[in-house]
Amino acid sequence: MAIGVKALPITFVAHALAIVGAVFVLVWCIHFRGGFAWVATNKSLIFNNHPALMLIGFIIIGGQAAISYKSLPLKKEVKKIIHLGLHAVALVLGIVGIYAAFKYHNESGIANLYSLHSWLGIGVIVLYAIQWIYGFAIFFYPGGSEGLRGGSLPWHVLFGVTIFSLAIGNAALGFLEKLTFLENSGLAKYGPEAYLVNFTAIATILYGAFVLITVYSAGEPPAPDDFSYSAV
Ligand code: HEM
Ligand code: HEM
Repeated sequence: MAIGVKALPITFVAHALAIVGAVFVLVWCIHFRGGFAWVATNKSLIFNNHPALMLIGFIIIGGQAAISYKSLPLKKEVKKIIHLGLHAVALVLGIVGIYAAFKYHNESGIANLYSLHSWLGIGVIVLYAIQWIYGFAIFFYPGGSEGLRGGSLPWHVLFGVTIFSLAIGNAALGFLEKLTFLENSGLAKYGPEAYLVNFTAIATILYGAFVLITVYSAGEPPAPDDFSYSAV
């Protein structure tokens, strides 16, 4: 069920927004928040891994995985490997990113799982893992029957875009929560850092929108010699 626009130009907008979001979150974490560390007495440096890994690792790489069937001029078989591989990378970096938030909380004596953001975040990562395992088993190895693959695909796309949208919404909640904490402890509401955090969240939401538009746009028809295309 494609809308009547070509996917490829939309993917370029998605790539550009991915770069903007990645640069913004790195400038925030490094320039304004002091950079990254895994072992440190300044526990905020451990926290900084969380937004960077969740935005660049989970959302940006996960979004690139979702649009890889539309953005890459390769055979379907190859794109399938890229799709499942990039989703695996996103899942692993997402888990490490969440671990960083727990590590920061535990080492700073802050409670875990007290916010809507944290509970939705657990939901998102669990659903993403289930989606990956089901996709792998049905579409890759061992692979379902043709009927099961055909029947599963619309559900796979529906669940995929739903989980991805939840991830975008949850990242926005995370930026809001952290900025609110910082503003409550004195950060200027109209200072450069506040603008940067809000515009990082806006870039994230726009990236999510362009990933979704790509998924519902028309891909290139398969090349005449691409016999791999018929296999779902
Ligand atoms: C989809 C992406 C994201 C997911 C799945 C996610 C998930 C989580 C989870 C599960 C926790 C709980 C950790 C604990 O209880 O110890 C957490 C904490 C936190 N996250 Fe995220 N996060 C995401 C993106 C972000 C982003 C982009 C920010 C921006 C700064 C952020 C800010 C926070 C903050 C401030 C906390 C600590 C307070 C709290 O537990 O709510 N998160 N996140
Ligand atoms: C969390 C992990 C995953 C998510 C969020 C996800 C999401 C998506 C989305 C949004 C699409 C639609 C793409 C488009 O039409 O442009 C799609 C298609 C597809 N996915 Fe996944 N996917 C995941 C994992 C997997 C895995 C592990 C496989 C195993 C091979 C897989 C196989 C496929 C196939 C075969 C298609 C159909 C491509 C086509 O229509 O030509 N997915 N997926």
